[in-house]
Amino acid sequence: MTVVGTRGATLTEGRADFPTGFVWGAATASYQIEGAAKEDGRGPSIWDTFSRTPGKVAGGDTGDVACDHYFRHADDVSLMSELGLAAYRFSVAWPRVQPHGSGPVNARGLDFYSRLVDRLLEAGITPYVTLYHWDLPQALEDAGGWPERDTAYRFAEYAAAVYARLGDRVHNWTTLNEPWVAAFLGYGNGVHAPGRTDPAAAFRAAHHMLLGHGLAARALREAGAREISLVLNLSPVITPAQVADPGAAPSEADAEAVGRIDTLLTRQFVDPAVRGEYPAEFLDIVGRNGGVEHIRDGDLAIINQPIDLLGINYYNPCVVESDPGRAADAAWPGSEDIRFCPVDGVPATAMGWPIVPNGLSRLLVRLSDDYPEVGLIITENGAAFDDVVEDGRVHDARRTDYLDGHLRAVHAAIADGADVRGYLLWSLLDNFEWAEGYRRRFGIVHVDFATQRRLLKDSALWYREVIARNGL
Ligand code: NOJ
Repeated sequence: MTVVGTRGATLTEGRADFPTGFVWGAATASYQIEGAAKEDGRGPSIWDTFSRTPGKVAGGDTGDVACDHYFRHADDVSLMSELGLAAYRFSVAWPRVQPHGSGPVNARGLDFYSRLVDRLLEAGITPYVTLYHWDLPQALEDAGGWPERDTAYRFAEYAAAVYARLGDRVHNWTTLNEPWVAAFLGYGNGVHAPGRTDPAAAFRAAHHMLLGHGLAARALREAGAREISLVLNLSPVITPAQVADPGAAPSEADAEAVGRIDTLLTRQFVDPAVRGEYPAEFLDIVGRNGGVEHIRDGDLAIINQPIDLLGINYYNPCVVESDPGRAADAAWPGSEDIRFCPVDGVPATAMGWPIVPNGLSRLLVRLSDDYPEVGLIITENGAAFDDVVEDGRVHDARRTDYLDGHLRAVHAAIADGADVRGYLLWSLLDNFEWAEGYRRRFGIVHVDFATQRRLLKDSALWYREVIARNGL
């Protein structure tokens, strides 16, 4: 299949060379892989509490053991070496560093990350550290969580403490992972921890996360950090007709729906971070959902710290159309009169997410056009499938196809002028997939959760070759 990119570059079959220096890696996150929930003074996080609440996570799964990576990190770094990864993106668990979210640092918690960083560097793998991947210390949630302004200041203190310990060896820093998800699934529709369902709290949480990003980015920069990024879950927002035909012109009503959802998903975060402003339409929506009083004078200047990279987590496009009279979706306060459409006619992953690689090229080209001030890096992309182990192998051809298609989309976007610096695959290991528990496997390395045995899937062997060739 040959797909035409946004400006005519194509997602062709055959050979595709990536730019020299393109960064190839894989990603994980603390709560999803570490386990060791009570080890070395770690305090409880909102995900410990949430996953123990009956009915919240499929199968009653928790991150208590997960991939046992806390104890197996040396072996896991060996696996990364075997794959030839140049970069490894992981997150630091705030409750390991500050068990109660503020106050004195727990040195034993930081020791773990220090050992991990040393192992990575010995293996020639560049660490990409994310400071917040959703495991808020429970004590901070008890004090009001992200809807409280103080949490932003606590986050910046924590970030500075991590930098003080790792900054001599770590140069690539991400403040937040997917604040839209953390705010609107955590405080909006309650599907994620802490499980609150209050649209006004979700908007306050999102703003305070951005404020925390700005405060932390400023602190990191002052302390000497070289590369700072913010990671967002981004999707091109398109109409149903644009899934097959990216050039299809939307009706006026559909164009309004597309614009509004893009404001909530993309511009709510990128505009303040990169340009120091919220879109006027966004402020209207917040005004109708609890008010804008939490957005104080001076906040946007703090949020607007120079960042070096925008990290993009892409899985699928967001497909919407106008639907007058429809109530807002609980995860999308402000989405009245809009329908989120299922995508027909394309294959889907085990998450039910439609597979649309050209959505990634569309997204990358648009971001490079609209925000030329920042470079781009894919910080997550990958797929869950119902893998089976057969004769000691996992023949996950659909995952390889997914990855191949999306890498061709990245390649086409680069040919179309997008400034994309690297690709960090989600995920290195099968892991705790949040509300879906362990039943959804995103890894290129299979994990047998009964024995903790790791097994390279066919997609991992394929990815190793991609890395070695710097292309497809
Ligand atoms: C994005 C999140 O950052 C990650 O934690 C999650 O596992 C993947 N999406 C897949 O849902």
